[in-house]
Amino acid sequence: SVTSNFDYAANLFPLSSSTAPGYAPLGAPTSAAQRRGGLGGASLEKHKTLTYLNGLGLIVGLIIGSGIFSSPSQVNVNVGSPGASLIVWAISGVLAWTGAASYAELGGAIPLNGGAQAYLSKIMGELAGFLFTWVAVLVLKPGGAAIIAIIMGEYLVRAVIGAEAETVNPWINKCVGLVGLFIVTFLNCVSTRLGTRVNDMLMFLKFIALVGVTICGVVVALTGFSFSGTANMEWKTHSWFDGTSSDMSHWAVALYAGLWAYDGWDNTNYVVGEFRNPSRDLPRVIHTAMPLVIICYLLANVSYFLVLPQATLNSTNTVAVMFGSKIFGPIGALIFALIVSASCFGALNSSTFTSSRLVYAAAKEGYVPTIISRVGVGSREPRMATTRSRSWFSKRLHSMIGDEEMGLFFTPIYALVLNAVLTAIYVIVGEFGELLTFYGVAGYSFYFLTVLGLIILRVKEPNLERPYKTWITTPIIFCCVSLFLLSRAVFAQPFKTLIVVTFVLSGIPVFFWRIQGRDQITKRELGDSPSPWKFWKRWRR
Ligand code: ARG
Repeated sequence: SVTSNFDYAANLFPLSSSTAPGYAPLGAPTSAAQRRGGLGGASLEKHKTLTYLNGLGLIVGLIIGSGIFSSPSQVNVNVGSPGASLIVWAISGVLAWTGAASYAELGGAIPLNGGAQAYLSKIMGELAGFLFTWVAVLVLKPGGAAIIAIIMGEYLVRAVIGAEAETVNPWINKCVGLVGLFIVTFLNCVSTRLGTRVNDMLMFLKFIALVGVTICGVVVALTGFSFSGTANMEWKTHSWFDGTSSDMSHWAVALYAGLWAYDGWDNTNYVVGEFRNPSRDLPRVIHTAMPLVIICYLLANVSYFLVLPQATLNSTNTVAVMFGSKIFGPIGALIFALIVSASCFGALNSSTFTSSRLVYAAAKEGYVPTIISRVGVGSREPRMATTRSRSWFSKRLHSMIGDEEMGLFFTPIYALVLNAVLTAIYVIVGEFGELLTFYGVAGYSFYFLTVLGLIILRVKEPNLERPYKTWITTPIIFCCVSLFLLSRAVFAQPFKTLIVVTFVLSGIPVFFWRIQGRDQITKRELGDSPSPWKFWKRWRR
């Protein structure tokens, strides 16, 4: 009988246990790269630093980016009325929550860095995991980050030069975005703790901002105050469901816009291997973050409707800035532009933190050159920072930003740099609309497959230890809705879908090329008939 994840892994993956559950925490080599002795013992997973709060910072940090401050108009334009908009926001929130809850179960059962890469490999075979990584590392992660970086640039420029920002050369926005990307990458190279601290702080800022929006909205509604023009009375005089669209495809588009604002709910799953207590904290993080975000988003939307008339709301894609200037005038616009750019900066930081862990996990599997899985700079085995005597200043510095044991620069620096370079390319050449379509189709295909994998795993491995188990209806709902959304995209944009599919499939030859090389080396080292015994001896060495 299977008693723990360790036994489960040992039974199930005696040979190909590169990422088998249970191995990483025991300090055995965890990857193909390490099995063939390519790299020293430095491994992020051995130094578990992330806490509940950090997890919350990572997930909320990415979810609350620019979406809630800008896309309410897209939702409202499509469904036609405030009431219907709120329904869309609620549905997309709950949908994101079902996805996140499913991922929480997977993360507990397979507690490894890399998110869907690890789950798909274990459940559907390594090719599936590889294809996810192929698309995520090359397009989804850097593309998503690039969008956030560009929006950050736009809002910062807007804060500095005010309303003329609309006419500014887009390259200026892009440059500001690149500077933000550089700063974020540097912070994350310095130390894991610095990256997560920035996240934690910005998470609070985001919540404060959304609560602030709500309070302002309610006060304005009660007092009828308005800085310029007359106060908005539509919410009193019109029914909240006037003008609701009955066209399903409009609702689907609105749902996409809502889902973009909630996207990022899988973010903590990429770093499960670094949690101090993943089986306890991951579900907790998800079940605190999701309801909090949903409530904040709904309240913020109500507040927008209280303050801004429909026509104004629909005509802008900088709703929050409009909101600020309606209540406080130019100062309000400035403050909200700053808040949104700070919020995007936080999202960029979260995304950088977790993308680098995905790249790192991919390198450990040998999907990308294994040097990228190296942690820290230079030395193979990082020195333990605590064994050195330190000056007063250095002690202060380390207690503020360092990692307790490992000191500074004990981070997946190569992975961070690779991710930053890819993101920068997208910032420079990327086109917003194209990226978003690709993101929707490819992203949701893999979400769908992964959550389907949860259902398959329940059937195939009913006895696998699952520290957290979600209701079986949760993944089913998620699968059905994402299938609906995908089918809509396929019919609406068959050509673009074809491009996405072609790109995904083009990863197959790459897979065989990478894997063949990796397995040949492993075989050569272990003799022709690799027996579990030989593997074991290697591990012990
Ligand atoms: N939800 C975020 C926003 O409102 C966008 C998240 C993008 N997702 C990603 N994985 N990069 O801006």
